[in-house]
Amino acid sequence: MIPIESFIERRRHLASQMQKGIAIIPTAPERVRNRDAYYPYRFDSYFYYLTGFGEPEAVLVVVAGVDGGASKHILFCRDKDVEREIWEGFRYGPEAAREAFGFDEAYSILKLDEMLPELMTDQSAVYCAMGHATEWDIRVTGWINQIRQQTRSGVSAPGGIFDIRLLLDEMRLFKSPEELQVMRRAAEISSGAHRRAMQKTRPGVNEYEVEAELLHEFRRHGAQAPAYTSIVAGGANACVLHYVENNSRLNDGDLLLIDAGCELDGYAADITRTFPVNGKFSPAQRDLYQLVLSAQAAAISAVGPGNRWDAPHEAALRVLAQGFIDLGLCHGSVDTVMQSEDYKRFYMHRTGHWLGLDVHDAGEYKRDGEWRPLQPGMTLTVEPGCYVRPADNVPRHFWNIGVRIEDDVLVTEAGCEVLTSAAPKTVAEIEELMQDRQDLG
Ligand code: GLY
Ligand code: MN
Ligand code: MN
Repeated sequence: MIPIESFIERRRHLASQMQKGIAIIPTAPERVRNRDAYYPYRFDSYFYYLTGFGEPEAVLVVVAGVDGGASKHILFCRDKDVEREIWEGFRYGPEAAREAFGFDEAYSILKLDEMLPELMTDQSAVYCAMGHATEWDIRVTGWINQIRQQTRSGVSAPGGIFDIRLLLDEMRLFKSPEELQVMRRAAEISSGAHRRAMQKTRPGVNEYEVEAELLHEFRRHGAQAPAYTSIVAGGANACVLHYVENNSRLNDGDLLLIDAGCELDGYAADITRTFPVNGKFSPAQRDLYQLVLSAQAAAISAVGPGNRWDAPHEAALRVLAQGFIDLGLCHGSVDTVMQSEDYKRFYMHRTGHWLGLDVHDAGEYKRDGEWRPLQPGMTLTVEPGCYVRPADNVPRHFWNIGVRIEDDVLVTEAGCEVLTSAAPKTVAEIEELMQDRQDLG
């Protein structure tokens, strides 16, 4: 768990980067699934990053530049409600939340509309995530308009509205040792889930049964949920990049692609492994698998401080392009295949993304038109793949084979650290584990 002092320090750091003004950061709303049943609640990542407070109906307000430079941190949250707590469980209420989470002040969420115009009055700047949630855009502009209507009494409304994400995205991009500890554990649990899936897979089993094994492993180790909908894609389903139906029978002779990771205390893991349903790669499957594995190794080697964001992608592309030529999938030289982008028939996505509280995490990829240099503390995925759909000019033995291999990687001073290395990846490791498949119960 990340200590409360770290959340307080993040809020202070945010305030130190703001000009005199006020930041408004609401958490996510609860969402109806159908009639009176709700989706499992998930807080907003920006709000949680700054508070560690997981209840719905909460707003953080940071006032910067108070009394010559200090800042004030205010929480609005649900009131204590003994009757509702009997049905829905514990809620802190403002006083206990202020104490437990280190806010300067805390008030009932019911006071928000009354207090925000007061707090915003005579502030020169408002920081919020405009466009992130339209209901909040409307509320914030409503409060500003209320102040404007009183300007004849001598008050002034904020003149500047700034996107707080510019500040927060940059903070979130660099993971602290405490965040990395959580991410390592999320990676470890998720790696175990992939191992379990390999051990449970056999011809005749259904994709949803394997999905259940992943969930079993996530939950039994205390992860709260999958970080995103698990992809469990047998055979041709692996060529559908966002396949999530997970309802097909797994056939002897097919590969199974699983893209799944857990969310632990807010942080995501994101792992893909591809392995044979019957435990043994066919020659064609092995050819494509080894190619993607080599591309991934090249990409991981390109992760290191000072290297540009797209260096891993470029490294993976060159290996894949050469492999596609060698295997008769593309024609010409590596340079012509790269230039014409012929490889995109078989590899149409990019090689990774930032990883953190969101699976596709916050953070700029380019700055002033240039890909950013990687720096220690950044975490990203490395996930090349190859997806071969049937076509006349494609060798038949590759048809319907989809392979992706995805790991989570931390940029370190010395290079990088693969957080998800406990998930088997080489042909030998996978075949060996699957040969020793036991019924895990
Ligand atoms: N699981 C989402 C992704 O790999 O980007
Ligand atoms: Mn990913
Ligand atoms: Mn993934």
